[in-house]
Amino acid sequence: MRILLVDDNNTNLKLLTKLVKKLDNCEAVPFSTPEAVLSALPELDFDIAIIDYQMPVYNGVELFTEIVRFEKYANVPVVFVTADKDMTTRMAALNAGAIDFLTKPVNPVEFQARVQNIVSLTVARRQLSDQAEWLRREVDKAVGELRLREQEIIHRLTLAAEYKDPETARHTLRVASYSEAIARELGLSDQECTDIRLAAPMHDIGKVAMPDKVLLKQGRLTEAEYRQMQAHAQIGSDILSRSHSSLLQLASEIAASHHERWDGQGYPNRLSGDTIPISGRIVCIADNFDALTTERPYKSAWSYDKTVEHILGRAGTQFDPACVAAFERALPTIREIMETDRREQAQEAALRAAALDVGKIAIAR
Ligand SMILES: [Fe+2]
Ligand SMILES: [Fe+2]
Repeated sequence: MRILLVDDNNTNLKLLTKLVKKLDNCEAVPFSTPEAVLSALPELDFDIAIIDYQMPVYNGVELFTEIVRFEKYANVPVVFVTADKDMTTRMAALNAGAIDFLTKPVNPVEFQARVQNIVSLTVARRQLSDQAEWLRREVDKAVGELRLREQEIIHRLTLAAEYKDPETARHTLRVASYSEAIARELGLSDQECTDIRLAAPMHDIGKVAMPDKVLLKQGRLTEAEYRQMQAHAQIGSDILSRSHSSLLQLASEIAASHHERWDGQGYPNRLSGDTIPISGRIVCIADNFDALTTERPYKSAWSYDKTVEHILGRAGTQFDPACVAAFERALPTIREIMETDRREQAQEAALRAAALDVGKIAIAR
């Protein structure tokens, strides 16, 4: 433990230095002027300060006020040494943050007992703050692991859905990225944007309950099939609901609300306006954008421009106008996500074709 000693009286300083050296594991850092302390302060290293109250130029309190300006000394314990028994002096020192006083002339036995107490207190305080820091790190680690596990559950559920409908894989990931881009433009917090990206891939998880003849039908659905298909929103929400995971709760909310419409004409609950959760209002636009710009069994892919125009034209009817405005601001990002995905798909197709050619050559030989 390093103890700063400041006293303009050399005899006193020598005495204090000698007394500190007698304490267990303590080292004295002596200074005879406050000015010398101040100029050495950035490089100084000490745990406790014992400062003479009456000194020329700077008194003890003024010096201490300067010391605690440095962040690393903000909580350093200080003891003032004073010959002054006057209450006003003592109050000024206490107000400045003194934890104890020593009266001049210093009594060696009293000095050692008091300083030893402060040393023990400082050690205990440091152990406590080390422990708090360790605990904080452990909690952060545990929360991080929990989130990774939540993300893995989501990923595996999404994988399960892909077995049912191969279109789902890329669709869900694109919708997740588009949703995050819209959420950012809406000014949601970092955490909320990330959560929406992680939860959005499960918006169509309820499709696992759809019969193949409806889900995989080539061509338009009949009215009855369309109604049957609508059930995926509620089923998806039910699959994910009542979880303790906040991410799965959000995913359940998105599954339930991504087909609601701003004007109340959507499903499953015909919610309208602000009663539709913001996550659902965002994913609704992302989902529509993706459905329109990609080919489906019942329609060819729309162009980017036609799709954008369609969505902007439905602000206030199908979509939340604020989310549409955020979508419009996010368009450069959204276009980039769409084009990157198309490039990746083309590369994958080329690789598959090349692998097929290699196979044909091997068979021909
Ligand atoms: Fe859906
Ligand atoms: Fe979807």
